Amino acid sequence: MSYKKLIVLAAVAGSLGLGAVTMAASPQQTISERQANFKVIGKSFKAMLDEGRKPAPSIAVYRVNADAVAKAAAKVSGHFPKGTGSEAGVKTAALPAIWQKNVEFKGAAAKLVAASRKLSAAAKSGNVDATKAAVMGLGPTCKGCHDPFKAKD
Ligand code: HEC
Repeated sequence: MSYKKLIVLAAVAGSLGLGAVTMAASPQQTISERQANFKVIGKSFKAMLDEGRKPAPSIAVYRVNADAVAKAAAKVSGHFPKGTGSEAGVKTAALPAIWQKNVEFKGAAAKLVAASRKLSAAAKSGNVDATKAAVMGLGPTCKGCHDPFKAKD
């Protein structure tokens, strides 16, 4: 192979490498994505609690918000790669316990996923009472993770 060809190949490999680096999310990006994802969970959860206080709650409102929570819940455990704690240098409420007790953390995330699936199924069934109960089932999964793994505001 000629020297010139090698240079061209190295340049191509270099640009590919650079492309891969720019595509992978930085710790800062991952943190802001996960915070935005939790905001969706928080907003939807609150919308369902508010709906439950109305005299005639709308199943359509439950469905939309239950699906939003289920979709966001599925992303939670993938949003905490190593290096995305306070060492990333941006504001985060994620505690070191997430990585020190990662099995427990993943378990807490799985509980949220399970509760959100139950909620989606209840909302799909059209039964308002069952849906209301399933919304209440979601709450303890938030607390079960926030207490050990999230800094207090
Ligand atoms: C598996 C653990 C886990 C579960 C389950 C969980 N959270 Fe969180 N939550 C966290 C962590 C950790 C943070 C801090 C994220 C950060 O700052 O990087 C957080 C942050 C938040 C925030 C603040 C987002 C922001 O930065 O503004 C809200 C709101 C929130 N969670 C709502 C909820 C609600 C509501 C539920 C239950 C329906 C829930 N979370 C379930 C771990 C969890």
